[in-house]
Amino acid sequence: MIKSILVVLACFTSAFAQVPGFGGCPSSNTVANFDIDRYLGKWYEVYKFPNLFQSGQTCVTANYSLKADGHIKVYNQGFSDGKRVFAEGDAYISDKADASKLSLRFTNAAPYGHYWVLDTDYTSYTAVFSCESLGGLARIEFAWILTRNNTISDSLKQKVFQIFEKNGVPTKSLTKTTQNCGKDV
Ligand SMILES: *[C@@H]1O[C@H](CO)[C@@H](O)[C@H](O)[C@H]1NC(C)=O
Ligand SMILES: *[C@@H]1O[C@H](CO)[C@@H](O)[C@H](O)[C@H]1NC(C)=O
Repeated sequence: MIKSILVVLACFTSAFAQVPGFGGCPSSNTVANFDIDRYLGKWYEVYKFPNLFQSGQTCVTANYSLKADGHIKVYNQGFSDGKRVFAEGDAYISDKADASKLSLRFTNAAPYGHYWVLDTDYTSYTAVFSCESLGGLARIEFAWILTRNNTISDSLKQKVFQIFEKNGVPTKSLTKTTQNCGKDV
């Protein structure tokens, strides 16, 4: 059993993530009364759990906009080896009882993954967490800190790190994303 979990974990790890762990997902709280309209627009990625699909990317931004079908267009861009790279994804509020729990995918071939907004004030930061449980024995985690500014102050960083810790998400895996491309990239 453990062996097959390890194999699944290895597959997931090579496909998406580099922060696998043992045990199920933490029971995280998400932000109350989530307002998707205020959440839309451009965000800068300032910290994330390392993941292979964005490995080595700098100046990563996300732009969320509403689509005609009520879903959210997720337009991520960044630089990789000096070249502009982008990915377009589709997100929607998948938990009817809790608008802060969205699902997101970047290709039609992939299953949707969780996109949980642990906390946001809409105007300066958002703390995003994603955890997929593999039978409660292992898990794959992603986390991102996005900010409206392309830099994060030390006090805001402390505040958002505490939000993750409070929700059972260890911040030691958060790595800083280089944002030195100026405001308009
Ligand atoms: C975000 O995407 C929307 C829809 O494609 C677009 O109208 C808007 O200009 C974009 N905003 C930025 C800052 O790129
Ligand atoms: C963004 O940064 C500027 C200075 O770099 C600062 O004056 C402003 O308060 C910041 N805004 C937020 C929302 O943190």
